[in-house]
Amino acid sequence: MPYIYGKRIRLRAAEKEDIPTFLHWFNDPEVTENLMMTTPMARVEEERWYDCMMQKPATEHVMVIEISDGQQKPSYRAIGTCGFISIDWRNRSSEVGISIGEKSLWDQGYGTETMSLLIEHGFNTLNLHRIWLQVHSTNPRGIRAYEKAGFIHEGKFRQAEFKKGAYCDVHVMSILADERRQSEIKGKPIEKGLGQNGNTPHAA
Ligand SMILES: CC(C)(COP(=O)(O)OP(=O)(O)OC[C@H]1O[C@@H](n2cnc3c(N)ncnc32)[C@H](O)[C@@H]1OP(=O)(O)O)[C@@H](O)C(=O)NCCC(=O)NCCS
Repeated sequence: MPYIYGKRIRLRAAEKEDIPTFLHWFNDPEVTENLMMTTPMARVEEERWYDCMMQKPATEHVMVIEISDGQQKPSYRAIGTCGFISIDWRNRSSEVGISIGEKSLWDQGYGTETMSLLIEHGFNTLNLHRIWLQVHSTNPRGIRAYEKAGFIHEGKFRQAEFKKGAYCDVHVMSILADERRQSEIKGKPIEKGLGQNGNTPHAA
């Protein structure tokens, strides 16, 4: 799969060699606080997940988010994962997900830019019609990033997730291809500064 380039990030295929990095990220309670994970993750589980994903390339694409060091001949480093989960080709619909494992890089717009890239790729290359996601009500950072990328609140599953002794709602947000097109026709990318151009924690 070719790289997908954004303004500050690029997306590449997840490799088996990434597994130690994934284990580091997805065993960090701060990173997993708003993911559908309840127990520490073992290497063998992660390897099984990877092998399973590789057997269904038509329906699940998990990618690594990388940032450049800004040099003329840039080198890149991994900061998180994102991707399309359970693509439904008949309805041209897919759930997406994201996790930025490098906590020091939260709140710097990378989540918004990644989602905008997934939207762009989903509509303009995969020919999807609808892209949607689930986010816990306890994750205002995620909700804000998805709003900035153009996702619209669709509804919520009430008290659908139990964690830390309490239930929280799970919001469903989505964007349709026409909505994206309209914002492009108006000539304004959904999030200022961006170009026009999922149950795994990697895309949770
Ligand atoms: C959720 C996540 C993808 C967002 O990515 P990010 O790069 O941190 O987000 P961005 O910088 O693009 O946008 C975050 C926005 O939320 C805002 N924000 C941060 N904390 C907030 C809070 N407590 N309440 C309201 N807004 C908040 C930021 O100020 C920013 O908005 P602004 O640009 O208008 O100021 C990332 O933080 C992450 O991966 N977290 C851990 C795993 C996770 O929760 N995955 C998502 C599961 S649905």
